[in-house]
Amino acid sequence: MSERVVIFDTTLRDGEQSPGATMNQEEKIRLAQQLEKLGVDVIEAGFPAASEGDFQAVKAIAATVKNAQVAGLCRALESDITRAFDAIKGAVNPRIHTFLATSPLHMKHKLNKEPAQVLDMIEKAVRFAVNLTPNVEFSCEDASRSERDFLAVAVEKAIACGATTINIPDTVGYAQPQEFYDLIKFLLEKVPNAKKAIFSVHCHNDLGLAAANTLAALSAGARQAEVTLCGIGERAGNASLEEVVMALKTRAHYYNLETGVSSTQIFPSSRLLSMIIGQPIPPYKPIIGGNAFAHESGIHQAGVLKCAETYEIMTPQSVGRAGNEMVLGKHSGRNAVKARLEELGFNLSEDQVTQMTDAVKNLADKKKHIYSEDVEALVLEEIYRLPDKYRFRRLSVVSGNTAMQPVAAIVMDIDGEEKQLSSFGVGPIDAVFNTISQLTGRSPVLKQYAVNAVTGGTDAQGEVTVRLEEGGHKSVGRGSDGDVIVASAKAFINALNRLAKKEEERECARL
Ligand code: KIV
Ligand code: ZN
Repeated sequence: MSERVVIFDTTLRDGEQSPGATMNQEEKIRLAQQLEKLGVDVIEAGFPAASEGDFQAVKAIAATVKNAQVAGLCRALESDITRAFDAIKGAVNPRIHTFLATSPLHMKHKLNKEPAQVLDMIEKAVRFAVNLTPNVEFSCEDASRSERDFLAVAVEKAIACGATTINIPDTVGYAQPQEFYDLIKFLLEKVPNAKKAIFSVHCHNDLGLAAANTLAALSAGARQAEVTLCGIGERAGNASLEEVVMALKTRAHYYNLETGVSSTQIFPSSRLLSMIIGQPIPPYKPIIGGNAFAHESGIHQAGVLKCAETYEIMTPQSVGRAGNEMVLGKHSGRNAVKARLEELGFNLSEDQVTQMTDAVKNLADKKKHIYSEDVEALVLEEIYRLPDKYRFRRLSVVSGNTAMQPVAAIVMDIDGEEKQLSSFGVGPIDAVFNTISQLTGRSPVLKQYAVNAVTGGTDAQGEVTVRLEEGGHKSVGRGSDGDVIVASAKAFINALNRLAKKEEERECARL
């Protein structure tokens, strides 16, 4: 019989600490719902004491999630713990996750505390948390650089005070797999009350070893893995959910461990995250990257054609990759659109399916073959678009290398009122962005611009991602269209809507 590993997903907390990966409340809720569908056991929804916005988002997630446990992170301080519990108490199964550093470096330079004082703080914090809920996790921050004997004492204390999960983070991604295996074995053997808690690990990827260290720790007896979708997280990120889960599944006989994750939801979940944070999945990324199942060499292709297992250790279908076959066209009806949306992991309402059917037909008028990627881009455009303060209507652009300077004329709605303007630029995109900035009265700085063909073919939709910064606030926008200039305008306006939405959320938090 294989033993069960608890999958603790921290995409919405540590993942959100990844540069450029901030999400608004609606996006966090949408992702939390998808994480439930994916089958993770615990969703770490945020750090409620960090800001009013974080608190409200965690509270909203706690109210939405039906089956998974919802964790709120907090420092080992009564005020933080109270705040975290207030945010998660509406969840079906709330978990307080409190942490304190135990390494000499952190205790001396960050906390300015003696080891005995740290032990005292652990005792007070865990006891306080346990009075609020029995489901308490304690993390020894920077555990992999802590002195082993002190770490064992800290763990023993947290368990004695009522913590039911003990997390051993490799906070700075310093550990090596064999060393991390030994550390977990040591703790399980040395801590007298170790059997009363589940041991968890939380590995960072600074040396590219996060998944390897997580798997080593599971082999040593840890039974919870803290992971994120696509491995996003602080600095180089965390252990990727997809790598850890698929290693356990593909090498089931080796590990003899199982998870509750539905592996066919892995790809739709990663795509949703990528769409929300506006960061494409790198093609070389294991399991979810565009190249993960592509066989380039002739020898490999011939082998796979004869028997897929020659070069494929798992099937694309097992991680929810539908392949790139033509999926819909001009004559596809509502049922075909609905079925395809469900296969791609989108469970939409009946009205949304109708909206998508119209959008697919419109696109099919311009583009003969519609692929999964086109459908995903349309869902983002049509369904997951934010309620718009700014709305794109139409544009025309003149550009080229004649004597005339490129010019853009744009029609858009601002708070429901139609406005238009034309303006010049160094090139057509510059002209479009200048015109929109003038129309909206905003002055964002364009930090990054990327265009990507959604599928192959010269009639492919262009998907544009922009990163903007205005007054110290950042946002990402995405837009797609058969015309890359129109896609650019949509992406720019989408990013402005996100800036406006964040302003609104900040305003609400102040009231
Ligand atoms: O990396 C880390 O140590 C953390 C803890 C708060 C669990 O994220
Ligand atoms: Zn972390």
